[in-house]
Amino acid sequence: METIFSGIQPSGVPTIGNYIGAMKQFIQLQDNYNCYYCIVDEHAITVPQDRLKLREQTKGLAALYLAIGLDPTKSTIFIQSEVPAHTQAAWIVQCNTTVGELERMTQFKDKSAKNNRVGVSAGLLTYPPLMVADIVLYQSNLVPVGEDQKQHLELTRDFVERFNNRYSNGAPILTLPDALIPKAGGRIMSLQEPTNKMSKSDDNQKGFISMLDEPAAIRKKLKSAVTDSSGVIEFDVANKPGISNLLTIYSSFSGESIDELVARYQGVGYGTFKDELADAVINVMEPIQVRYRELLHSDELDQILDTGAIEANKVANKTLTKMINSVGLGRKK
Ligand code: AQP
Repeated sequence: METIFSGIQPSGVPTIGNYIGAMKQFIQLQDNYNCYYCIVDEHAITVPQDRLKLREQTKGLAALYLAIGLDPTKSTIFIQSEVPAHTQAAWIVQCNTTVGELERMTQFKDKSAKNNRVGVSAGLLTYPPLMVADIVLYQSNLVPVGEDQKQHLELTRDFVERFNNRYSNGAPILTLPDALIPKAGGRIMSLQEPTNKMSKSDDNQKGFISMLDEPAAIRKKLKSAVTDSSGVIEFDVANKPGISNLLTIYSSFSGESIDELVARYQGVGYGTFKDELADAVINVMEPIQVRYRELLHSDELDQILDTGAIEANKVANKTLTKMINSVGLGRKK
């Protein structure tokens, strides 16, 4: 059975962008793959975080993983910082990656520009090697992610090829992974600036819908989403980015194709369209929110995370030992 790894940062409450681009795929995959789903809290501290909020969000994200339908008997669910092999392997990855490669990463450029007022951490530059470590430790074949992570996956593939060429005498040491990006919804855009990606850490709360927004807030944000003055519902990303983004969101939540939606809403105004889109989003989100609230402070959640950490440590340490031996660190084990 092939292996899947993916993670989300507890840098805020996930948005419907994170849900459509990544989390929704997690559920569909768990029946046919050996899945590892991680809460990547070490990635989150590459930019400043409030420590108490971070801890709350970490637990909250774990509860959301379960609330969307991840089944701990099928998937290993764990917190990154509870598996020390991630940072240990990341050091080996860093020492086999060039500064030039890291400085070329679009996410580093964007986030360092955004955070330069408070100083850019070295961790923001070395974020991709930590992500490489996350993926290779589980010998992952596939990594379900949104489009913004494509470049990091390419870096991962370059690293794996380089590492195997440098250190293997025969069979590859690490598995070469592929990104799994959804055909539609790989890049959900901000509701207020539809040419920018929707992000959970956006300062403008109206730009994103968080997975824990109350139904009334979801409706209000969708009603005030930026569109255009033509009043015609059609999919044209270049000329009508706002309405095209809303069509993508609608299609992801209702399961109808964009063509079907466009045909159904011919001659219908934006107001009705946005109202019915809000119904579709709320129909999916409300039951998730109910389940989330049941799980958040439960013993069950802690038990699942404890079991997940034990399993993840076992698998990750096996690969870490291989990496340590390959590069000649310490005494041979
Ligand atoms: N707008 C998006 N559309 C589709 N997929 C998205 N993803 C993120 N934003 C969108 C995918 O969600 C997964 C988890 O992302 P992450 O938490 O690791 O970090 P990110 O990509 O930096 O996401 P955010 O929401 O923009 O977080 P902040 O604001 O903290 O930087 C990834 O698979 C990502 O592709």
